[in-house]
Amino acid sequence: MNWIHEKATRELARIREGREKQVYPYFREFEAGGLHTSIAGKPIINFSSNDYLGLTNHPKVKEAAKAAVDKYACGLSSSRVQATTVEHVELERRLAKWFGFESCLTFTTGYQAMVGTLMALADKDTTLVLDSYSHACILDGTFLAAGIPGRAPEVRFFNHNSAKSLERILKTKERKHAIVLVEGVYSLDGDKAPLREFVEICARYDALLLVDDAHGTGTLGRRGTGIIEEMGLEGKVPLVVSTFSKTFGGIGGILLGDGDVVDLVKHNARSFLFSASLPVPIVAAASTILDMLEADGPALVAELHQKSEYMRSGLKKIGFDLGKSDTHIMPVMCKDERKTLFMHIALLECGVLMVPLTYPSVKQGEERLRVNVTRGHTQEDIDTAVSLLGQYGEAFFVLSGEDLGPLEEGA
Ligand SMILES: Cc1ncc(COP(=O)(O)O)c(C=O)c1O
Repeated sequence: MNWIHEKATRELARIREGREKQVYPYFREFEAGGLHTSIAGKPIINFSSNDYLGLTNHPKVKEAAKAAVDKYACGLSSSRVQATTVEHVELERRLAKWFGFESCLTFTTGYQAMVGTLMALADKDTTLVLDSYSHACILDGTFLAAGIPGRAPEVRFFNHNSAKSLERILKTKERKHAIVLVEGVYSLDGDKAPLREFVEICARYDALLLVDDAHGTGTLGRRGTGIIEEMGLEGKVPLVVSTFSKTFGGIGGILLGDGDVVDLVKHNARSFLFSASLPVPIVAAASTILDMLEADGPALVAELHQKSEYMRSGLKKIGFDLGKSDTHIMPVMCKDERKTLFMHIALLECGVLMVPLTYPSVKQGEERLRVNVTRGHTQEDIDTAVSLLGQYGEAFFVLSGEDLGPLEEGA
């Protein structure tokens, strides 16, 4: 065995144990796309999807992508510098208008949009100020920016969603400029940023606010443009990053901002310049979903809210703790690793997929099933899920909070 093999064997011990006990919950293989899929031949209702408006499998979206395959194939074999199409530029123009920004740049993933933007904008005169619950793309963009010789920004964290803590950091930052990084909706807890307070503090300290609204796009605000619309902050947030991988039914990243700032990122973001351009079938799918949002956004968003309220009240009535969630993302708190995994497996056996989150993804004692309600779920899907959660929540003492007790030998 060479050293890397030894390291892999050692570091994978926990995963191996999970697989041996048949409680390893990840990388399950879907046999069809959509919220209603199958795994190993068994029909599954998927509550782990981020297809929040249930438009990914819409026939018009698939037709648009198929037509684009005929015209442009599946890839353009180069980065946007040499592989930009009229379709990319037209989608960027329309997205900027719909979101209410001067300019838009699309990336190949949302992750790349954030990493590239931070690397392009942060330098040694900048302090990057991050919410302590920041998504991996914000952390990685920050650490990559901090690793560039001679350009490294200062990096500081503030307590999750705390305006007081943010202000303390801005008061004591050591560099001339600051970029404050928050998310519209946090994907593990389903809570929203107190964006009004953050806008006010950033204005007072002349800090640039960048909001990652991956989970707010299509779900918040009357038209679905996100947290800025929901909180009436149009024109007050200078930069937004979002994604096509949730509401927009495919893959891809979005940067929104002023013309010059977006242009600066376009000419400096390494994840944009040195990675292949977004395939046109994906651009066509996103454009078709944008057509639907422009035509029917308020009705689509209202339906999502009605379904998530229905699910939330069903779960609360049974007695589940949904943490800090006030959105369509609902953590069903099990507060114990084994309970969470048992719940996940029992539900899956009954045809319902809910992703388990255990340490280190969440703190010990905060283990949960992450439930995403979408507009694409039927009333019957939701009733089935609530009833099964109630049944197993009781069986595994999630509702009572009692200890599961030791596993029997050989179990
Ligand atoms: C908050 C947040 N930002 C960014 C991303 C990255 O988006 P993408 O899937 O487009 O890379 C995600 C996706 O999980 C996310 O949850």
